[in-house]
Amino acid sequence: MIVPVILAGGAGSRLWPLSRSQHPKQFMPLIDNNSMLQETLKRVDGITDADPVLICNEEHRFLAAEQVRQIGKTPSILLEPEGRNTAPAIALAALKELDRKEDPLLLVLAADHYIKKIDAFHLAIESALSLAREGKLVTFGIVPTHAETGYGYIQQGNALGKQGFKVASFVEKPDSSTAESYLASGDFFWNSGMFLFRASRYIEELELHAPDILRACRRAIDEGQQDLDFLRVGSEAFKGCPENSIDYAVMEKTDSAAMVSLDAGWSDIGSWASLWDISDKDANSNVLHGDVLAEATSKTLVQAEHRLVATLGVDDLVIVETKDAVLVAHKNKVQDVKKIATALKQSG
Ligand code: GDD
Ligand code: MG
Repeated sequence: MIVPVILAGGAGSRLWPLSRSQHPKQFMPLIDNNSMLQETLKRVDGITDADPVLICNEEHRFLAAEQVRQIGKTPSILLEPEGRNTAPAIALAALKELDRKEDPLLLVLAADHYIKKIDAFHLAIESALSLAREGKLVTFGIVPTHAETGYGYIQQGNALGKQGFKVASFVEKPDSSTAESYLASGDFFWNSGMFLFRASRYIEELELHAPDILRACRRAIDEGQQDLDFLRVGSEAFKGCPENSIDYAVMEKTDSAAMVSLDAGWSDIGSWASLWDISDKDANSNVLHGDVLAEATSKTLVQAEHRLVATLGVDDLVIVETKDAVLVAHKNKVQDVKKIATALKQSG
């Protein structure tokens, strides 16, 4: 039994001003007509019939419920009072599923990834099944194309089975010179941020490497309250949980990590530049959405939500116009958009 676990609690602040805390990017249709969350849920059709588990912030419960209803899915929805990053979110799902079922395999997916070739994605999951059943924590590795510092890096070790590898080392978000050296070595893959493992194995690894997280999440599940279709986890217990990602808390530390490579046109729509990257472009390599007039403009993304936006004689820009805010940024600076969103939040 494979249970999809969909992580949908991120803020998506690098896609400001379109992505807002009230309405983050995973709930928006950035590429197709469906939202990123809906695309993620549909992507597992054909892999499993089990109902997925969706974990998100309680603030987004109606948005999430409406979107899953629209595509005819019936996930269990776990609500966090505040995000504590991915290690606790996955722990909640694992504990909940162990309560109900006999140690299922969890297929952990981010709600904000784009995958072009669904067949290749399904094949990679099939290749990972036997390793996960044996107790490995399997991650899906992507051949890196540049020294991205926003990803985890996986050093490929010895072969495991037909299509897998042992993870020789796992380094989350290295600095840029380290990322350069990994890229040059040819030994490293990017961590796609998707995982397959037995629920019990994840809990065992947490017990070993992050017992505080496990303790807090156990209490949060025990004190959880069913509210309509939602399970609100115990607020006090969960707010007391340390914040950490699965990558730092478990994947960097475990001896049981394995990797299966994935060549499926995967992309983390982490920034405006990555959205530009994967979108269809016009003859001048522009991606233009909404009412846009682009003259002598190239390699630029313009998103006009409410007004006409005209550009003249510019290259490599990102321009995003919304009702109450406009972003104009150089395409190679857009990783820092998060700083703007954070500064605005602090200034109220
Ligand atoms: N429920 C819940 N609660 N979900 C969360 C939380 C939380 O507190 N924090 C993040 N998420 C969700 C996000 O919405 C996203 O779908 C997913 O978990 C991953 O979180 P990100 O914040 O986007 O992680 P990242 O992109 O910095 O890094 C991860 O993904 C990279 C690939 O995209 C890591 O796994 C990296 O190693 C990996 O390379
Ligand atoms: Mg991400």
